[in-house]
Amino acid sequence: MLVEKRNAGRYAADFVKDGMVVGLGTGSTAKHAIQRLGERCKKEGLEIIGIPTSEQTKVQAEDLGLNISTLDEHPVIDITIDGADEIDPELNLIKGGGGALLREKIVAYHSKEVIIVADPSKMVDVLGVKFDLPVEIIQFCSTAIISSIEELDCSADLRMDNNTVFKTDNNNYIADCKFHQISEPYSLSRQLNDIPGVVENGLFVDMVNRVIIGKKEGVEEISIE
Ligand code: 5RP
Repeated sequence: MLVEKRNAGRYAADFVKDGMVVGLGTGSTAKHAIQRLGERCKKEGLEIIGIPTSEQTKVQAEDLGLNISTLDEHPVIDITIDGADEIDPELNLIKGGGGALLREKIVAYHSKEVIIVADPSKMVDVLGVKFDLPVEIIQFCSTAIISSIEELDCSADLRMDNNTVFKTDNNNYIADCKFHQISEPYSLSRQLNDIPGVVENGLFVDMVNRVIIGKKEGVEEISIE
């Protein structure tokens, strides 16, 4: 899927115009978009301000010499380009495979336009069929929080990083939740976020304007106006 990711990422970067504030997503597909933005800044003299959605993305953007800032300093983002783990026909998403879902959701929420870049394997008929839903939870009483999540009819595992518990950039944990099928993502998202100790979940509902699916040659563009 390397070529597909590359084609999607690089194509999406060309939606960015001079002077824009750009949300910089996380993951192997968003990385190609950021790389292309770096090239455009050097070759075309494009001037943008990047708002990274993770520490990993911040390092990449800095290495490329991009201007980096924060949402606090630039509260309105023109375009965000990010990846996804699953995309349904309404362009709702599961995100958080890389553990950056909280910052990604905040950045997307404050964006005028959200472009998702992905390879064809990410398209599904119903969310949850292939990918477990990541839910960011606080460390305190994580076992009890996970039990409450499981009352919503799923099985949940604390994400591990080799032999230690994975920690997000916000020093929280991730519970990966197997729902098998998520037919009502909006209502599930509300139910999850109502559980004390849940910080945010990886369902992105009604947040995306455009999806770019990379192909071996070229891309397919799906948009909702
Ligand atoms: C990180 C994410 C990523 O965007 C998502 O996991 C897709 O990653 P990739 O482009 O590497 O397949 O949500 O939290």
